[in-house]
Amino acid sequence: MATHKLLLLPGDGIGPEVMGEVQRLIDWLNKQGIASFETEQGLVGGSAYDAHKVSISEADMDKAKAADAIIFGAVGGPKWDSVPYEVRPEAGLLRLRKDLGLFANLRPAVCYPALADASSLKREAVEGLDIMIVRELTGGVYFGEPKTITDLGNGQKRAIDTQVYDTYEIERIGRVAFDLARKRRNKVTSMEKRNVMKSGVLWNEVMTQVHAREYKDVTLEHQLADSGGMMLVKAPKQFDVIVTDNLFGDMLSDIAAMLTGSLGMLPSASLGEIDAKTKKRRSLFEPVHGSAPDIAGRGLANPIAMISSFGMALRYSFDMGALADKVDAAIAAVLASGLRTADIKSEGTTDVSTTQMGEAILKEVQKLHA
Ligand code: IPM
Ligand code: MG
Repeated sequence: MATHKLLLLPGDGIGPEVMGEVQRLIDWLNKQGIASFETEQGLVGGSAYDAHKVSISEADMDKAKAADAIIFGAVGGPKWDSVPYEVRPEAGLLRLRKDLGLFANLRPAVCYPALADASSLKREAVEGLDIMIVRELTGGVYFGEPKTITDLGNGQKRAIDTQVYDTYEIERIGRVAFDLARKRRNKVTSMEKRNVMKSGVLWNEVMTQVHAREYKDVTLEHQLADSGGMMLVKAPKQFDVIVTDNLFGDMLSDIAAMLTGSLGMLPSASLGEIDAKTKKRRSLFEPVHGSAPDIAGRGLANPIAMISSFGMALRYSFDMGALADKVDAAIAAVLASGLRTADIKSEGTTDVSTTQMGEAILKEVQKLHA
């Protein structure tokens, strides 16, 4: 059996707590001989700043480059509000994405039947929801230069962010979206703002070309990102795969998360290019939620997004789709049994802590594996 190297970066706030539940699952998989994972830990975000005055150390960047996959918790919190911009907690995550070339961010939003009532939308609107947001992750306004604040000397300052996309960046994220759609319901909706932004004009043009050239069997629709956002809350089930840029993807995926009942439910995978020789790709798996400093350390955090992100690692990095299916089924079963962390509780459900939720999910995985 191949041994896979994992770098665990728990980060800040609830990160370490939810990571603990993934560790529980990894330990069991190793012990049973179902898989063989070698884990290392590193610091990122505020915890790295406290230790080394950086958002991630060079040593941990080296570990990240050497790992077969990175499992990432969450970063940030008010404690680090006044640290220099270059070393703010989020910078560590952005550097990992950029330096490892993790351009494709997959954010599936699935509404588990047991949670349809936890959504802020009506049950009919979200029951059975299963969409995949494909967010471009290493370009756009997140990384475009110039990115500055200049003092104009007259009591005014000027802030500049730059939205920039090259053809190849749009092509490669488009291909990821079309390939995924072929394994799903065969439909891609591309979202941009071509009515205002040049980058939107090019995005639309390149998506149309890639589709016509390579993916005629897939249905392609275009929507302006603002009306796409509206449609996501009005009739989300019309979507299968949504492909969009870095900033719109950030916003639209938070919206999609709430459709599923809680931000604590959404996993994500960030993938690099497939290496022609080794057929491997760099990858990082993280929950869509943040570090939730307000509830950190109190056993209130929902570990489902984190556990399900590890499930995506099994599926997308280690070719263990069957095991990933078991993790997903275990989560569904635990939810159906009525166990709930604070963020998803409703009338008649049973409150559990982070640890109890993690233990219950592991027990279900064990049952499914027996
Ligand atoms: C996300 C987060 C990050 C982002 C932050 C923490 C930098 O919101 O992954 O959605 O904006 O990409
Ligand atoms: Mg976000």
